[in-house]
Amino acid sequence: METAGASSLLGKHVVLGVTGGIAAYKAVEVVSRLRKKGAHVHVIMTRGAQNFVTELTFREMSDEPVITDMWAKVTHYHVEHIALAKLADVVLVAPATANFLAKAACGMADDMLMTTLLATKAPIFVAPAMNTAMYENAMTQENLERLRAHGFHVVEPASGQLACGTSGAGRLPEPIELVAVLEQFFESKRDLVGRKVLVTAGGTHEPLDPVRYLGNRSTGKMGFAVAEAAAQRGADVVLVAGPVGLETPAGVRRVDVLTAQEMHDAVLAEYATADAVIKAAAVADYRPKERAGQKIKKKDGSLLLELVRNPDILKELGEKKQQQVLVGFAAETERVIEYAAGKLEKKNLDFIVANDVSRKDAGFSADTNCVTILGRDGTHTEHPLMSKRALADIILDRVAGALPKG
Ligand code: PMT
Repeated sequence: METAGASSLLGKHVVLGVTGGIAAYKAVEVVSRLRKKGAHVHVIMTRGAQNFVTELTFREMSDEPVITDMWAKVTHYHVEHIALAKLADVVLVAPATANFLAKAACGMADDMLMTTLLATKAPIFVAPAMNTAMYENAMTQENLERLRAHGFHVVEPASGQLACGTSGAGRLPEPIELVAVLEQFFESKRDLVGRKVLVTAGGTHEPLDPVRYLGNRSTGKMGFAVAEAAAQRGADVVLVAGPVGLETPAGVRRVDVLTAQEMHDAVLAEYATADAVIKAAAVADYRPKERAGQKIKKKDGSLLLELVRNPDILKELGEKKQQQVLVGFAAETERVIEYAAGKLEKKNLDFIVANDVSRKDAGFSADTNCVTILGRDGTHTEHPLMSKRALADIILDRVAGALPKG
């Protein structure tokens, strides 16, 4: 008998999506094993799945209501179709059919499982199970690639005799393996417990007068994704945020600032005790020399503004660096790697994340990013287009690896 106390799944809310494949029967054992580990399991069945296993089986095994219909009257979960999306610590779809993968890759929301996937911020695992030819089909592989790029974790299918009589890749891994994948995920991703991570996000506003400012297009999405990921990995996170319209991620201490000078002061106040700093903010390099007390009135001819330099916060952090792992971003529109490498050196950083901000799907305001991470150790890794949240974990993997042990 396994004991719940030792498992990283203890107390976790696992949303288990079951889609319509013959391997749906194995999902029953997944529920049982997850519960033995101390997890709460909430099952969502697609219409297809109900042809293979009954709702009653999952209800009895999970001891929770089972969702089979987006339009049914909700009796247990508070409000609506996104309650489970919010509750979930992790979502596992097992088995995941080719049809499900195709719909997920397109971001469809035509049933409760698809809606939950789109609405959740929890990590999502999919375990494909299907006939080998369907699995190897280029379209299925492209769908899986797209899902990976959006941060989905794909559990590779096992090879062997399949229900359709053929043999090859496409078998759902055994329930014990699926549960182990989730357990390991929660174990490895608590690697920042006891560490203080300081993150900056958003742009700065440099006032010209009471109603106007110089600013930039940063929305804060990149920095907020890093803060959220660090908090989920157990760090004590301080997020110094410029003026952005985003909700504070759970477990994060947020300090709001407006100008580069305010960001400088807030960051320096937290720096000495930080283990890692990730500077995703787009800080204005200049500010108007004078800030008019009243709204500037228009006159004939041109208006000349004199700008003065703002502090380079990251450079100062580099000069004062002690135990901290320092990560900067480089927002470039040309010679991306060359300029980023210069900043890595000049600002005394451990890593720099170079993004080409001339792309529409990367850099400012997009939900996705496509970067090259340059390391002080000479490493140079390219990361394809993916969600900012998925990229946040990749950056934090590098940070965790560079932190002094203990
Ligand atoms: O917020 P989003 O809409 O999600 O967009 C994300 C982003 C494009 C803003 C982000 O991915 C990014 O590239 N952030 C850095 C933007 C930037 O200011 O880059 P830079 O190359 O000008 O600066 C290099 C580094 O020095 C940055 O880490 C910056 O925070 C820091 N810096 C810059 C100027 C300054 N005065 N002080 C600084 O600390």
